[in-house]
Amino acid sequence: MAGQHNPQVKIIVYVGMSADVIHHGHIHIIMEARKLGSVVVGLLTDEAIATYKRVPFLRFEERKQVIENIAGVERVIPQKTLDYVANLRRIKPHYVVHGDDWRTGVQRETRQRVIQALKGWGGKLVEPAYTPSVSSTDIIRYLVEAGITPAQRLQLLRRQLEVKPLLRILEAHNGLSALIAEKVKAQKNGRPVEFDGMWESSLTDATSKGKPDIAVVDVSSRVHTIEQILEVTTKPILVDADNGGLSEHFVHTVRTAERLGVSALVMEDKKGAKRNSLFGTEVKQQQENVAEFARKITAGKRVQITEDFMIIARIESLILQKGQADALRRAKAYIDAGADGILIHSKEKTPKEIFAFAREYKKFKNRVPLVVVPSTYSQVKEEALQRAGVRIVIYANHMLRAAYPAMRKAAETILKSGRAHEAEKYCLPISEALELIPENHS
Ligand code: SPV
Ligand code: MG
Repeated sequence: MAGQHNPQVKIIVYVGMSADVIHHGHIHIIMEARKLGSVVVGLLTDEAIATYKRVPFLRFEERKQVIENIAGVERVIPQKTLDYVANLRRIKPHYVVHGDDWRTGVQRETRQRVIQALKGWGGKLVEPAYTPSVSSTDIIRYLVEAGITPAQRLQLLRRQLEVKPLLRILEAHNGLSALIAEKVKAQKNGRPVEFDGMWESSLTDATSKGKPDIAVVDVSSRVHTIEQILEVTTKPILVDADNGGLSEHFVHTVRTAERLGVSALVMEDKKGAKRNSLFGTEVKQQQENVAEFARKITAGKRVQITEDFMIIARIESLILQKGQADALRRAKAYIDAGADGILIHSKEKTPKEIFAFAREYKKFKNRVPLVVVPSTYSQVKEEALQRAGVRIVIYANHMLRAAYPAMRKAAETILKSGRAHEAEKYCLPISEALELIPENHS
């Protein structure tokens, strides 16, 4: 079909793009497409972009406005997946135009599927040479490395919740562990995956200071750790606020956290001397009265300044063996009081009681994002939690627990050997330790 067109037929040229950061490479592609016919841009939705890279800086509607106003673009339609096929089948373009850079990397498969689909009606793939020395990924990396303001970071968690089905949050207790949460990437089912943010845990913050998790590390000290994390990262941070303390104190914690750019405070419904939840009923722990805790939530919500800051209410009914009915009753009351999320905690070895809660929770008319902490039921897969309706998974203590065994082993080995040589195998080579922090070079 392509190349032998009836002059009466309008030639449709499809260009798929994210267009979060526009540069002359995009303009070049659009100009090439325009030479062939009438250009329809398939603009990836925020959700589609979030399946393979960071949530875009600009929202779909904002990006659409930009692209619609580029000379030569006739129409912009949403492309709801990284895969082009659904849109191509619908509009059956004569051409698809894409820079030749997608022959390798994450988009290779996508390209193959485009070629296959186009065969269905004799369409053609045209691949102008990729514009050298410019890449959106590099520009975005540059922007990310330039840093982020507290206000920009704060709103990221809400933004991620809008566009990603499930967020993965990793514990951090200092700058170095936070850098891992910020930078580590892996491949899962052929797609790059990374953590969406950090959990500043009371347990690991206290433990890393050699202190018990009983709210003995005061707010100023916690803020110091939070600042360390904020200073070297750009991802959103959720802070474990224990039970929030007295209402009169909690409102100040809200103000402090918000000013720093923390996205959410997670507050648990326990009262009195706080003990770690994973002790369950082995130690004396008391749950707060529902109305009292609801009032604390409302007090916090009243003093926050931005719309985006979140107060997540954490329910301890299952930890304290008060049963599902109590947990559900509290969830309703806390949502009514203004909670922006519900964290349902459990210390069982299986996710059974979490799934039972989630099933009932799904029936609520008024719902907020559901958060879980699979520390004891760690065999559960993210996919299963997502299917149950969970929106945020917190890996609450793994950086600290991973580091400790290696540290102890190295210390014991030095003692036994009377020198450090045998302990080297438990340690990062010094050259790599220096590489950990890029600024060591500068
Ligand atoms: C923490 O990480 O400090 C928590 C989660 O509060 S848990 O340790 O499971 O109570
Ligand atoms: Mg805690």
